[in-house]
Amino acid sequence: MNGLTPSRRILCALDTTDQQTAFDLAENLRDHVGGVKLGLEFFGACGPTGFDHVAQSGMPIFLDLKLHDIPNTVAKAISALMPLNPLIMTVHTSGGGAMMKAAAQAATEAAQNIPNGNINYVRPLIVGVTILTSMDESDLQDIGLRPPISAQVVRMARLAQVSGLDGVVCSPFEIAAIREACGPDFKLVVPGIRPVGSSRGDQKRTMTPREAIERGADYIVIGRPITEADDPIKAAQDIARELD
Ligand code: C5P
Repeated sequence: MNGLTPSRRILCALDTTDQQTAFDLAENLRDHVGGVKLGLEFFGACGPTGFDHVAQSGMPIFLDLKLHDIPNTVAKAISALMPLNPLIMTVHTSGGGAMMKAAAQAATEAAQNIPNGNINYVRPLIVGVTILTSMDESDLQDIGLRPPISAQVVRMARLAQVSGLDGVVCSPFEIAAIREACGPDFKLVVPGIRPVGSSRGDQKRTMTPREAIERGADYIVIGRPITEADDPIKAAQDIARELD
């Protein structure tokens, strides 16, 4: 567990293609959440320049690109992304042990080599995506994996841990089983969070912010319940207040 107060563990997913919208939200959410998440939608549209712009808000950023490729390519991608100084980066655990090892090592090496003589990269947490929270047991069977989801997720989490990753992304329902298998220091980043009364959207395995924190999430990722609320700042404030 990471010692942060509960509301500082909220990372708000800014799934937008507009740099200014992301920056404004990041700035306005600063007093209520611990950081923001930028993913494929934002990075595809705005790239590293957009990332740097949002970083000027002062918010820590989880760069969620869910890398999945051969070990050499993933390692090179991690090295290339290091100058952005993200708080967290993601790779898919289904890419295998060698790929995860290469990813973790690339982050460590880039953080040790001080580039340009004076800029020091802080090593981000490298975290593995297990089974997406938009998938249920029948989706798992469709891709040839055997249910139950929890057993599959624990297996992936153990592999991530022995391969040198700092933690995994998992649904709130798998927190307890992963904690038991991987111990208290393994970081659990948990999306699929829905405050009481908000729409599930495409998420299938959801839980409230409080339940997820009580079960032991290090970070909870909340997107649409904040960003698509009539008043996103108030939505974040309400969640933060409920948690703290
Ligand atoms: O809007 P919502 O709260 O569903 O956003 C959740 C965010 O977490 C999205 O950006 C999604 O890409 C991400 N995510 C997820 N499930 C995972 C990994 C990441 O929903 N397993």
